[in-house]
Amino acid sequence: MTVVILPFPAQEALASDLGVLLEPHGFDARVGRLDWRRFPDGESLVAIDEAVDGADVVVVASLRDPDAMALALRYAAATAREFGARSMGLVAPYLAYMRQDARFHPGEAITAPLFAGFLENSFDWLATVDPHLHRIPTLDAVFRMPTRCVAAAPAVAEWIRTTVPDAVLIGPDGESEQWVADIAKRAALPYQILSKRRRGDRDVIVSLPDPGLLRDRTPVIVDDIISTGQTIVEALRHLIAAGLRPATCVTIHAVFAAGAYENLLAAGAGRIVSTDTIPHPSNAIGLAPLLAQAAAELLRGAPGKPAQPASEGRSPVI
Ligand code: R5P
Repeated sequence: MTVVILPFPAQEALASDLGVLLEPHGFDARVGRLDWRRFPDGESLVAIDEAVDGADVVVVASLRDPDAMALALRYAAATAREFGARSMGLVAPYLAYMRQDARFHPGEAITAPLFAGFLENSFDWLATVDPHLHRIPTLDAVFRMPTRCVAAAPAVAEWIRTTVPDAVLIGPDGESEQWVADIAKRAALPYQILSKRRRGDRDVIVSLPDPGLLRDRTPVIVDDIISTGQTIVEALRHLIAAGLRPATCVTIHAVFAAGAYENLLAAGAGRIVSTDTIPHPSNAIGLAPLLAQAAAELLRGAPGKPAQPASEGRSPVI
């Protein structure tokens, strides 16, 4: 089975790792070209490797900036199909839009299923890492195409266990418990979960930690996503006020909205570490082997005839 991997900008290293890691799974994989540039007026120009006839094509694109990337993704997938791609897969280590899974205020679009439908109009399968599923139980609730979710917990637990052996893990909100409890169990470390109330995009209140459990240990705040950083800044504020050691902050997805990383450092974070689902200087935990395993499973089930979009027959979503 010939696999051509097309990396979006900044995904070349992951694409190259996936190419190497897919070989032991029985795939003849090579990395092809995907160029994307914006014209001064904001329109996208996408150009891809033309030699994809009969190949299973895998686009690698971390969806850190989904609105900007959406059309380019659609153009790349449609063009690969025009050049004869047998199937189209998407490795999106960070999957955007999964947090807007309910109508929190009147009139809001529920974008998790809408975005899923948008991707399904271009791709046959999706591999991702720990999507932020809260009220949605699994990705199957919003995607009809096959999906695989890589769990970062084993790799994160291993990093914490070996790098901060005296850690006590802190989850900054109830939603983080699903990840923090799992990581703590794997690393055989204690943990506590705080509660959080969000009053605005950059306005959150986090409950006070129990200093008794934290004393004489290094606090490690673990969250699935750091976006504005305000959740972690609030948690750090409490830890510092309680006179505890500088905390290590570990996140799966280094979204880091403008200024967030600098704000965390200014707030007293001892060290900030992330997995490589979004390229960022804080990346220290690599997930390529787990993503290759997921992609291999999905490639084995890829359509064996000239592919149609998985959403063929459903009404257009966007
Ligand atoms: C929310 O439920 C997530 O788990 C994160 O806590 C949240 O996305 C972090 O956002 P921010 O960095 O903007 O506080």
